[in-house]
Amino acid sequence: MVREWDPRTASSAEIASLLDTLNAVLAADLPQDPPWQESSLREYLSEVMPGERRISWVVQAEPTTGGGPGAMLGHVHVLLLGDIGVLEVLVHPTARRTGLGRDLVRLVARRVYQEGFRSIGVEVVGETPAVAFYEALGFSREYVETRSVLDLSAVDWTALAEMATAVGAGYRLEFCPGGPPDDLIDAYARAKAEVRDVDDGELRPSSYDPQRLRDSLDTLHRRGMKPYIVLAIHERTGEVAGLTEVVVPAQHPTRADQYDTIVVQGHRGYGIDRAIKARMLLELRSAEPELAEVQTWNAQANEAMLKVNAELGYRSDREWCEYSVDVAELVHHLDPAR
Ligand SMILES: CC(C)(COP(=O)(O)OP(=O)(O)OC[C@H]1O[C@@H](n2cnc3c(N)ncnc32)[C@H](O)[C@@H]1OP(=O)(O)O)[C@@H](O)C(=O)NCCC(=O)NCCS
Repeated sequence: MVREWDPRTASSAEIASLLDTLNAVLAADLPQDPPWQESSLREYLSEVMPGERRISWVVQAEPTTGGGPGAMLGHVHVLLLGDIGVLEVLVHPTARRTGLGRDLVRLVARRVYQEGFRSIGVEVVGETPAVAFYEALGFSREYVETRSVLDLSAVDWTALAEMATAVGAGYRLEFCPGGPPDDLIDAYARAKAEVRDVDDGELRPSSYDPQRLRDSLDTLHRRGMKPYIVLAIHERTGEVAGLTEVVVPAQHPTRADQYDTIVVQGHRGYGIDRAIKARMLLELRSAEPELAEVQTWNAQANEAMLKVNAELGYRSDREWCEYSVDVAELVHHLDPAR
């Protein structure tokens, strides 16, 4: 049975069943990725930035003979932001190739069209069935990144400690667990607005003005995702010359996600990129003792950042793509009679 579903009011049994499905999908498609945990999963699925909306549906099997809720065979949600809808679809490996995925995308397409949005975007993990699925539905590939993973047990911590201090004179590094301190929010937002040395995908939000940055940090916290930041401060001006952001999600606390890393144009060439990332890893080692890996996404053309990541010990893992489709075309493709 397919129905619209609100994670805020869903029963704990449904949240647990969705977690089982998500972990079955990961085991089938990304067996090297850590399974997810239930911590803050409800909040992860329901909390959004101000002005954004997420609409979800589930496909649930018949109730069990004991009267418990049926297993979640599929789940879809779309996050409406700006003028696009960002889609995520999951179909349990035992229920695939029966048209469920296509049915779920059809539901989303109709709703997003009715809501007046123009396009739908989706992150597609390379070398998984999702590539053929979205291509069959008429989505086209807009952007490709490479995901790399750093295994912290293989890090040379002595070399890393040296990298963390090898920064040009006139800069100091600051570790800020939880987010940038309030007196640096404006300088932080300016650094993000001035340049974006893309260390993340287009579909991951990035915030450029102070209020949006505060909202974004607040949303992360509400979703159970703990941000850590290392700043390079230009001592003479007090400006933020560089920043790197890592998030440790309560849902998979052994593997953290690297978000933006930025070195402002006039401050390049002083070793800031390498130093802030090395300092971050050193800090995380004591702040997050459970942490075993960090994953990062880079544009393939971003050679400078790929080089620094390789020096830190990151190993490239697989392609991570962004696909999109025009909503009206998708509705027509899935429902030619309309
Ligand atoms: C992608 C996904 C949603 C597809 O769900 P599904 O219910 O199996 O898809 P459908 O049965 O509706 O397939 C529709 C069409 O897509 C294409 N397709 C889907 N899976 C395919 C595969 N493994 N190989 C080739 N084509 C495929 C086919 O053209 C198919 O039509 P057909 O069966 O008539 O040939 C499902 O595999 C899934 O949940 N993957 C994980 C997605 C994800 O986000 N993972 C994130 C963590 S890895």
